[in-house]
Amino acid sequence: MPGQTSNNRSKSSSVAVPGAGRVAVVGAGVCGLGIAWRLAQAGRAVEVFDKGEAGRGATWAAAGMLAAGVETEPGEEALLALTLASRAMWPNFVRELEAASGIDLGYRDEGTLVVAPTRDDAEQLRFTYEYQRGLGLDLQWLNGAEARRREPHLRAGIAGAVFSAADHQVDNRQLGLALKAAFLRAGGVLHEHCEVTGLDIEAGRARGVRVGEEHHGAEAVVLAAGPWTGNLAWVPEAARAPVRPVKGQVLTLGMDPAAPLLTHVLWAPKIYLVPRRDGRLLVGATVEEKGFDETLTAGGVYELLDAAWRPLPAIEELPILETCVGFRPTSRDDAPILGASAVEGLILATGHHRNGILLAPVTAEAISRLLLSGETMPEARDFGPDRFERGAERRAGLAAVQ
Ligand code: FAD
Ligand code: GLY
Repeated sequence: MPGQTSNNRSKSSSVAVPGAGRVAVVGAGVCGLGIAWRLAQAGRAVEVFDKGEAGRGATWAAAGMLAAGVETEPGEEALLALTLASRAMWPNFVRELEAASGIDLGYRDEGTLVVAPTRDDAEQLRFTYEYQRGLGLDLQWLNGAEARRREPHLRAGIAGAVFSAADHQVDNRQLGLALKAAFLRAGGVLHEHCEVTGLDIEAGRARGVRVGEEHHGAEAVVLAAGPWTGNLAWVPEAARAPVRPVKGQVLTLGMDPAAPLLTHVLWAPKIYLVPRRDGRLLVGATVEEKGFDETLTAGGVYELLDAAWRPLPAIEELPILETCVGFRPTSRDDAPILGASAVEGLILATGHHRNGILLAPVTAEAISRLLLSGETMPEARDFGPDRFERGAERRAGLAAVQ
């Protein structure tokens, strides 16, 4: 987790882009498009570049859980302020984006259940529940019968469960499509199948991007290239984000939408299941350190189906509709990297790991605010790129043990 020593250089007014200034955004995932949409709404000229199709990176592979409550783990206390701020923004974000794009985001607010199939699991869940309640999260402990009243297809004998009414879900694929449509309607320019291959720097300041031989001038460049961000050889060493891909395999099963097996997002040991309104049931996800290996493996599929079958045996009758492999953009401390880099005019918005969909509204707000006014959002203050600079991590570690 980020330490408290970050001096976030993003306070500097040189970050703010003047009214007529153009912004170039590298990456059309949920982060890049969200920021670009907000900037275009504010009247800025914005160009977004993606090496493939917009919204087809991590944004496509995700499950769309907005789980600031049940996913909070020990050591993530600073991140919690950011995830809660974003979760609170979601209902308005949905209304505004649906109106701006004309696209239904498939937002569902039934809440999230975490179930413990065995007594051992229940002991562990109780421990996590006490920790999360201690952070002020609004969670409810349920016995097995109460959990089954909410989800009748759960296996008999569930030992206990936690219910989080505020952890909702969104259809992340619709989200990508909607952000693209809203950005274009706001006057933005999107270049798909256009890989950025260079950064133009003049007098130490980012002045645009290169796509092969083409130059696209800009007053500021936002790097939102998801899991690829750490591998961009053209980014100067001092501004390189410590981000790596963390592989996730996901299955989609098909339920009868008129009689779905599940209505809440469900977590159980080693698994989550996310029911969509159209009957799709996402089963995810593996967490693998395999670089950009796109292989769907027998072991991965077996692990997912076995872990899903334990709490919800009726899945064995469902068809497999889709398999998917995606890559989480994971930073060295698993937290997002938001703010001005060591190269003036080059802004980072990446490293969202398992929470990039949840954090989409706050990321768009924090980075657009930074570019429009030079202001750092209070909740984003601990997540500047400068926390990884030489010496900063060591200082944070020392501060933590004093
Ligand atoms: P991306 O969506 O990957 O977008 C980056 C874009 O940059 C890509 O489109 C890529 O083509 C483009 N790009 C890269 N290099 C270049 C270049 N040189 N030039 C031009 N374009 C370039 N988060 C949640 O909040 N909830 C969940 O339930 C959830 N589930 C997940 C499940 C799985 C299996 C995975 C893999 C992730 C999950 N996540 C979840 C995490 C979430 O998907 C990511 O944190 C988020 O999508 C990151 O968005 P992004 O815009 O940073 O990256
Ligand atoms: N947040 C779910 C995942 O990353 O798999």
